[in-house]
Amino acid sequence: MLKGDDYNGNLKRVMRNGKPGKREVKIEASIACANFKYLEKDIRELEECGIDLLHIDIMDGTFVPNIALNFSIIKDLKEMTHVPIECHLMIQDPERYVETTAQMGASSISVHAEATKHIQRVLAQIRNLGVKAGIALNPATPIDILDYILDDLDLIILMTVNPGFTGQKLVPATLKKIKQTRDMINRRGFGHIDIQVDGNVSIENIPAMVKAGATMLVGGTSSIFRKDHSITESMALIRTLY
Ligand code: DX5
Ligand code: ZN
Repeated sequence: MLKGDDYNGNLKRVMRNGKPGKREVKIEASIACANFKYLEKDIRELEECGIDLLHIDIMDGTFVPNIALNFSIIKDLKEMTHVPIECHLMIQDPERYVETTAQMGASSISVHAEATKHIQRVLAQIRNLGVKAGIALNPATPIDILDYILDDLDLIILMTVNPGFTGQKLVPATLKKIKQTRDMINRRGFGHIDIQVDGNVSIENIPAMVKAGATMLVGGTSSIFRKDHSITESMALIRTLY
């Protein structure tokens, strides 16, 4: 018999998904891994496959040792598709850019806990712009940082590689971290917060990630955009894995 927060967390989940124990899993396409020569073709194929969200990685060359994508791509994609756009800012002091990101049309914005001194303030700033707010944690960042900000969150990105590059290998300890985060948010009555995994969310790793409690999968070079497989083939295979 479940009591208190456990019961409430479970109840919310059942109400959202109809069945106890079976959580809805959303699939996101990591657009940095798409074929930019034929971007619109990739977007149409993703739409046909019923992709849930488009994931935009913005990197500043300071917070992470790489530079990727510009805010303007959000606007371009908004003109191309109705699929919601989720923006993952890998930027030092992200408070400087959340307004621009929202204006471009992102439906959710995630910022790194390690990139700002005032994480609660930035999350509130994002929600005040009418956008869903997410926190991203690098593999080595403890989940204690979530303790006093659960009320401010719509999603938690658990980085399963160190951010900055596509095609990396999973940091194995992050599987335990997904489970610990899922248990903690359910216990505290915040089971409705999505847990997103980002980095080497591969055909091999997806079953364990979902079992541990992930509800949003960022598909990159190791799942949706695999060499020698079409997006359609990969999406069909991913859906058999959980
Ligand atoms: C990390 C990137 C990758 C991206 C690519 O900063 O954001 O996690 O999703 O996916 P993979 O790891 O499959 O190439
Ligand atoms: Zn990302």
